[in-house]
Amino acid sequence: MELDNYVRALPKAELHLHIEGTLEPELMFQLAARNGVALPWKSVEETRAAYDFTDLQSFLDLYYAGAAALIHEQDFHELAMAYFARAQADGVVHAELFFDPQTHTARGVAFDTVLTGLERACADALGRYGISSRLILCFLRHLSEEDGFATLQQAMPHLGRIHGVGLDSSEMGHPPSKFARLFARCRELGLHIVAHAGEEGPPAYIVEALDILKVERIDHGVRAAEDRVLMARLAREQVPLTVCPLSNVKLCVFPTLAQHNLKTLLDAGLKVTINSDDPAYFGGYVAKNYLDTAWALDLTRAELKCIARNSLQAAFVDDALRAPWLARLEALPD
Ligand code: HPA
Ligand code: ZN
Repeated sequence: MELDNYVRALPKAELHLHIEGTLEPELMFQLAARNGVALPWKSVEETRAAYDFTDLQSFLDLYYAGAAALIHEQDFHELAMAYFARAQADGVVHAELFFDPQTHTARGVAFDTVLTGLERACADALGRYGISSRLILCFLRHLSEEDGFATLQQAMPHLGRIHGVGLDSSEMGHPPSKFARLFARCRELGLHIVAHAGEEGPPAYIVEALDILKVERIDHGVRAAEDRVLMARLAREQVPLTVCPLSNVKLCVFPTLAQHNLKTLLDAGLKVTINSDDPAYFGGYVAKNYLDTAWALDLTRAELKCIARNSLQAAFVDDALRAPWLARLEALPD
């Protein structure tokens, strides 16, 4: 079997995927025209040409501008269905979708509009593709904790439809400790907890995410490699890292994929997964992230299988749902 077919055949969970980051320019322009929204670009081509990022913030500025095309429940449904079609083609059996309600409520789009559109897509993806999914509400860390509490208040009537909370947006200067009380409240509510940490921020932010927010997974976490004590802890505690290789190169966290530290993390015994983050902006969905990383770092099939296994084990699902995926995975050759 060719390597690309092998990668697609691996049953895998995608655990780090911002649904707003799957908005391809074609759909962005379609929605903007339909909704009478003005975009900062003249064409699809001009939009793609603008995706030349120097750091996280340079990406976030465009990502929030593009999200302005999303207004109606139907828009969020279409967005997520386009993602699920790609996920199915890539061999994703389970996806945990991040969504950023504050990006939308700040523009006057109701929390319920966002959630209902996404939830309907999740139900349709299960029926159409057999892909199970979860929704993880992300708080924007450049905003205040008070703003986060107001968002949690809006989410309260819908908590049965939200599996967890995360923390995203501009990392530097916004450490996890800024949100200690908000995440404590989310834990009391029984929500799963994750946070972006150690993408651009220092290893100390990863330690804060673990000790203060009490996260169950770290999103990115690649800068852990700078701290030997933290590396040993992540290996010992088997904290899953949702690594996004193509994102890291596009946002200049690593100069090239060949210089990415994913294999270093894997060799140190950390529970590494591979994910696409914002695939419409970073040049590839999850299978391309696996495949390009495999070529760049000489990963073996056994290592790719281990990464897919990690993703299934790190998913927020019952073992009854997980077991058949693992059985399918183990049946594949190395
Ligand atoms: N990092 C932080 N915030 C984000 C990202 C990311 O990679 N993608 C979307 N919001
Ligand atoms: Zn992310």
